[in-house]
Parts: sequence; C-alpha cells; structure tokens
Amino acid sequence: MRIARGSPIAILLALVVGCDHPFPAREGIPEQRSPQQMSKVYDIGVLPGDGIGEEVVRESLKVLDAIQSIHGFQTRREALPYGAEHFLKTGETMPDVAFDRIRQMHAVLFGAIGDPRIEVGKLEFAIIAGMRHKLDLYVNLRPVKLYHESMCPLKGKMPADIDILFLRENTEDAYAGIHGTTKKDTEHEIALQQMVYTARGTERIIRHAFELATKRGPKKGREKPMVTLIDKANAVRAQDIWTRIFAKVAKEYPGVATDHAYIDAACMWLIKQPEWFDVCVTTNLFGDIITDLGAMLIGGMGIASSGNIHPGKVSMFEGIHGSAPKYKGTDKASPLATILAMGLMLDHIGEAAAAKELEATVASLIQTGRIRSLKAGDHKCSELGSMVRDELLARAKKR
Ligand code: IPM
Ligand code: MN
Repeated sequence: MRIARGSPIAILLALVVGCDHPFPAREGIPEQRSPQQMSKVYDIGVLPGDGIGEEVVRESLKVLDAIQSIHGFQTRREALPYGAEHFLKTGETMPDVAFDRIRQMHAVLFGAIGDPRIEVGKLEFAIIAGMRHKLDLYVNLRPVKLYHESMCPLKGKMPADIDILFLRENTEDAYAGIHGTTKKDTEHEIALQQMVYTARGTERIIRHAFELATKRGPKKGREKPMVTLIDKANAVRAQDIWTRIFAKVAKEYPGVATDHAYIDAACMWLIKQPEWFDVCVTTNLFGDIITDLGAMLIGGMGIASSGNIHPGKVSMFEGIHGSAPKYKGTDKASPLATILAMGLMLDHIGEAAAAKELEATVASLIQTGRIRSLKAGDHKCSELGSMVRDELLARAKKR
C-alpha cells in the first residue's frame, strides 16, 4: 500500500511509531544572492485566490512597490494562480510543483480562498491548510493591536489597553485532517474528527511564545512580559499535554510571567478586560475562533492580519478574513489586513525597518482620522491602498 505523505494514515502512523513530524521538512530561505547586487532581492509568491483576494493583494503590492523603493530592496514576484477559477478550469487544487516552487521562495503573500461554487472546505483544506501543513508553518501569529479608540466597540478602551499577540498552533488539533463518517445519512451515523497534539508540535509553539514575549518585553506598568496559555484541558483531557509542556517550558524563562485561562473564560476576559492579555498561546481551533473575536476589538476583519510562519523558512502571510464573495470586484473591501500582513512578511524576511514603518504609517492614517472606518464600502479598497502608498512616499520625502 502506498501512503501519501501528510495523509491521515501517514499522520497516524507517524504518531503511533513516534517518528519525526509527519509533514516533510522544507529547505531554508535561499541564501542571499551575489554580493555584487546593489540591493537585496526577495522571491515572493503572490497568491490572490478567490473573492476579494485579488483586490486586497493588488493594493498590497502597490504599497510594496513604494516601501521597497524607499528601503532599497527588490522583490521578484511570481503569480500563483490557485483558487476556485483554476480549480474549475483544470480540476487541480494546488499541485506538488507549486509547493516545490514555494519552497524556493522567501515568502508568499496570500489573499483569500473560498467560493460558493465549490464544495465547502475543499480548496481551504488543499490550499490554506495545505500550505500550513506541507510547509510546516507551525506558528500562526495574529496580532490584535488597537490603533485608535474609535475602532473599538468596547466602551473606554484605548490603544494602550489592547495590544495582544496571539500565537495559534497551526498544524495539529482538529486541523490535522483525521476525520471520517460512517453509516452516513442513517440514524446511526457516526462522525469523528480527531484532535491531535504531539509533544513536538505543542512544545515548539509554546517555546516560540516565550521567545516572542522575551523579545517584546513587559507591557507598560508590568515587571515582566506575560504568556497566557489558553486551552480547555478541564474538558478536553488530551490537552493536558499543553498544561504539562507549558509548565516545563516556563521554567526555562524565569523572566516571563505565566498565566492560564480556559478558552470560554478567555473569551469573556477578552471583552471584559482586554488589557490583561499580552502574549497568548493556544491550540489551532481555539486560536481560529478567538482571533475573530480579537479582530472585532480593533476594527474588524478589515484590519486583522496574520503570518503563517516557520521561523527562518519560507512562510505565508494573509489577512484573517475570508474571501467575502459578495464584495468581489466591488472595490469595497478593506485591504489593510493584507497590507499589515505584508508588514509581518517584511519583518519575517529581514526588512524589519520597512515593516515597522509600514505599520506606523497605517497607524498614523487611522490616528489622524484619514482612515475613518474599516466597514466595507466606507472607503474604497483602491483608495486605502493609495492612501497608504502616498503616505509612505510623503513620509520618506520629509526625511
Ligand atoms: C483562518 C480561516 C481558516 C481556518 C479556514 C478558511 C480554513 O478561518 O485562517 O482563520 O479555519 O484556519
Ligand atoms: Mn478563521
């Protein structure tokens, strides 16, 4: 019997025999090119996908043009045409050759996937989860940062109150792809989906949270940075592995305070007292859910960005929103989530100053009221892209 790598059976076998992680490791980010080159060149895969993906990516690239000219680096961009249209035309979701190409790149800038014409979950699993799994992007970094109080639906919360880094484990849990149904469409039907946690998978994301907290330093008024573990180990007993590994890793970071909340309570506290949270680490499914809640605290899905990251290797960056098919081609969707995700991408590939400046530029447009709202249609998608680009260029001119 041939067992496909990354298939449910391969994962189970890997778990049972205790061998290495079931998904193949990737090659590292390519070495810097010839020293004669005037500026650094990064290979970026551009995958707009479905729905609003195309327009939010187009606006982000407009901003990238400006920021790279200011910061003196270049990008070689390669279009990755995958998504609903490609699938309907060719029957192909995302082929192995695409992953092979991506492994040679520095990063992928991603729009969105999801189309009502196609079976629920098919493209999402093949493309989004496909990249997360096959490229082993085990860190899902989702910053929840408020740039202006007018963007927050909670009474009296200021930017200083809401600055949280969510770290969502990105390859395991209910997303491991082990599920099945038997006796379908009968009254005896049984449907199963496994929540998978490996020691390696759990430890590496928890360790990453402590590393980031150390790098970030304490929040204002606190002595130490803090990592909150969010789980549901009181009911999902398999998550006891998170409790134990978190305690073990924490011992190695005496400079970081620890905290714990069950996911239900964490949702409650996130609304009641978001200022409590600093760095939060959680499982794949809980991280998916709580970061939509977090997005609403900072202005909604139009501004919530994320990085799907394997530290030091090719990684993928996207807004956390979906494809919003009803807004496709209407020029109404906010591109800020993707633009800020591109900022996370710049930080990842080693252009930290450009990343910082991009974030500061978006923040200042919001703080000065030039970006009034992130509700679809309140500003045009193209207008927001141009605003960020023009503001970057204007700031550079002033220096
Ligand atoms: C996200 C999305 C995806 C997820 C879907 C589209 C599969 O909601 O990135 O948060 O559940 O991870
Ligand atoms: Mn989600």
